[in-house]
Amino acid sequence: MCGIVGAVSQRNIVPILIQGLQRLEYRGYDSCGVAVHQGGELRRARSTSRVAELNEMVAVDGVEGLVGIAHTRWATHGVPAVHNAHPHFSHGTGHEAKSAKAGRIALVHNGIIENHDELRADLKARGYAFTSQTDTEVIAHLVDSLYDGDLFDAVERAIAHLKGAYAIAVFCRDEPLRVIGAREGSPLVLGVGVGENFLASDAMALAGVTDQIVYLEEGDVVDLQQGKYWITAKGEDGAARSRVERPVKTVHAHSGAAELGPYRHYMQKEIFEQPRAIGDTLEGIEGITPELFGDGAAEVFANVDKVLILACGTSSYSGMTAKYWLESIAKIPAQVEIASEYRYRDSVPDPRTLIVTITQSGETADTLAALKHARSLGMTNTLTVCNVSTSAMVRECKLAYITRAGAEIGVASTKAFTTQLAGLFLLTLTLAKTRGHLSAEQEADHLKAMRHLPVALQAVLALEPQVIAWAEDFASKENALFLGRGLHYPIALEGALKLKEISYIHAEAYPAGELKHGPLALVTSAMPVVTVAPNDALLEKLKSNMQEVRARGGQLYVFADGDTRIESDSGVHVIRMPEHYGALSPILHVVPLQLLAYHTACARGTDVDKPRNLAKSVTVE
Ligand code: F6R
Repeated sequence: MCGIVGAVSQRNIVPILIQGLQRLEYRGYDSCGVAVHQGGELRRARSTSRVAELNEMVAVDGVEGLVGIAHTRWATHGVPAVHNAHPHFSHGTGHEAKSAKAGRIALVHNGIIENHDELRADLKARGYAFTSQTDTEVIAHLVDSLYDGDLFDAVERAIAHLKGAYAIAVFCRDEPLRVIGAREGSPLVLGVGVGENFLASDAMALAGVTDQIVYLEEGDVVDLQQGKYWITAKGEDGAARSRVERPVKTVHAHSGAAELGPYRHYMQKEIFEQPRAIGDTLEGIEGITPELFGDGAAEVFANVDKVLILACGTSSYSGMTAKYWLESIAKIPAQVEIASEYRYRDSVPDPRTLIVTITQSGETADTLAALKHARSLGMTNTLTVCNVSTSAMVRECKLAYITRAGAEIGVASTKAFTTQLAGLFLLTLTLAKTRGHLSAEQEADHLKAMRHLPVALQAVLALEPQVIAWAEDFASKENALFLGRGLHYPIALEGALKLKEISYIHAEAYPAGELKHGPLALVTSAMPVVTVAPNDALLEKLKSNMQEVRARGGQLYVFADGDTRIESDSGVHVIRMPEHYGALSPILHVVPLQLLAYHTACARGTDVDKPRNLAKSVTVE
C-alpha cells in the first residue's frame, strides 16, 4: 500500500504532487507528505490529516519547486504520526517545511523492508540518527551512506542491500534536477512528459498530466531528469545491471475523481451503480465463447480439468460463489484458496489446472505472489478476473476478463464484487460449454437472465428505505451473525465482512447448518442474526436453522425471496426480495447486505469511505 508520486519539471510541481496524492489516497490515508528541492535545501510538509490539509500547509508555508516527491501512507512500521510520515530525510532531525537546514537525501517508499533491523543497527553504529520507527528511514540513510556524487549509483548500490518489497522515489540536495525511482515487488510507473518526467504508484495519479506511461518491471531503477530518463534492469543470474528500453504505452487513465452526485459517500454511489456496472461488464456478449477471455483461451480451456481460484478478502468470496457454479454447472472440480495462505503452504500441483485470480485492483501483493507461486509449480494456464486492465495482474496472466465496474473509490468493495460474479458466471458457462455440459437452450436461458440483471438489481435497490430502518437497530449492537447456505454462504461471509469493516461491529458468518456445532452458544436476544433466504433447494433446511435461533431468543433479520412464504413474526423481521433468481441469485442477495452495512456505519458516524486501519489497494503482504 502507500502511494508515491515524484516529478522533475520546468514548472512548480507541488500542485501535481498534491493532485496525485489525492488520487492515491485509496492506497492509504494514515498520513501524507511532500518534499521539494527549494533554495538549495530539502523542504517538506507532513500531516496526519488528509491530503486536503497538506495542500493548505504547503500553500501557507510556500513550499514549491521543480523537483519533488510525495507520499500517502498506510502504516506498517510505526504508528500514524508526523515523525513517521514520509518523505524521510537522511540525517533527519525533525526539521519541517520552514527549516532552512535538513538532510541530504529525501525518500518515499511503498512496501516492507524485511531486513530493516539489521540495516538500522549497522547505520546507527555508523552515526546515523533515526527520528522515526519506519523501515523507510533506513533506506534514506542507506542511500546517503553510499552517496558519492551520483544518486543513481547510490540507489543502485543501496537496493542490493534491501530484502523485501519496495517502490521508492528519491532525490538529493546536491543534484537539484534529478529524481531516482526503483521497484521490486511494489508497483511503480514512469510518466513521460514534454521536458518533464514523473513517477507514480498508479497511472491514475498522473491522469491529465501525461498519458505516456512506462510500467517499470521488477528490479528496475529509473533516472528522471527534465527532458530525459533512462532505466536499468537487474542482470539475470547475478550478471551486472544494464540499461534497458521499456515500452511507452498510451494509457487513458481515469482520474478516479468521480463526482458524488446525490450520494453521501462513494460507497453508496457505488452500490447504486451496480445495475450500470453489471450492464457494462456484460455488454456486447451475444453468445458464450472462449474468446471472451482473450486470444488462445479455447486452447487453454481444452487443456484443463480443474480450477484453482486465488484471491483475498471480498474477491475470495466471489471465488467461493464461483466454486459452487463451476462444480454444479460446468462439472469441473474447483478449489478456492486465500492467496496469502496458498503462497506459503505445500500443495500438490497439477499442470492441468486453470489458475484463476480474482482482484479488483490487480495489484494485491498476496494474490500476485500466489499467482507466481502457482506458476513456479508448473501451472501456467492462468486467467484473471480483474477490474483494472492496465494492472500487474492483467499483464501477468495469459487470459483475462476485465470487469467494467469503473473506478471503485470506497474502500469497501461493492460493485467490484458483483461484476466479478458476473465475469465468473460467464467463465462457468464457457467451461460448461467447452466440456459439453451446456445445451443451446440452457445457454440462451442463462444469457437472458444475465441481461435482465440490471433491472432485477434496480428492484433490490428500491428496498433501501426498509434496510435503513433495520440499520437503526443494528447501530447499537456490538455483534452480529450472518447465516447462509450453499451458494449463499459466501454471500453471508461478504455481508459480515462489509458490516465489520465499515461499522466496526463484530460480525461472523456461518453456513446455517453449522450453527448447532458451536456458534449457537452466542445467540441471545441481543444477537441480531441476519439470514440470507433464497427460495432454493435448501430453503426448508434453512427454515429449521432459523427455528433453532428463535428457540434461543435470537432476533432474525431475514432477506427472503418473495416466493418463500417466510413471514414477519415476533423476533422475525423480514425484508421481501423479488422472486428467486436462480443461479444468479447471489448477485441480488448481496446488495441489501451492502446497504445494511452502509447505513449501519452511517448511523454510527464512521468514516464510511475510508474505514480506520484499512486501504483500498493492499500492495504489501
Ligand atoms: C473488502 C475489500 C477487500 C478486498 C481485498 C482484495 O471490502 O475490499 O477485502 O477485496 O483487499 O483486493 P483486490 O480485489 O483488489 O485484490
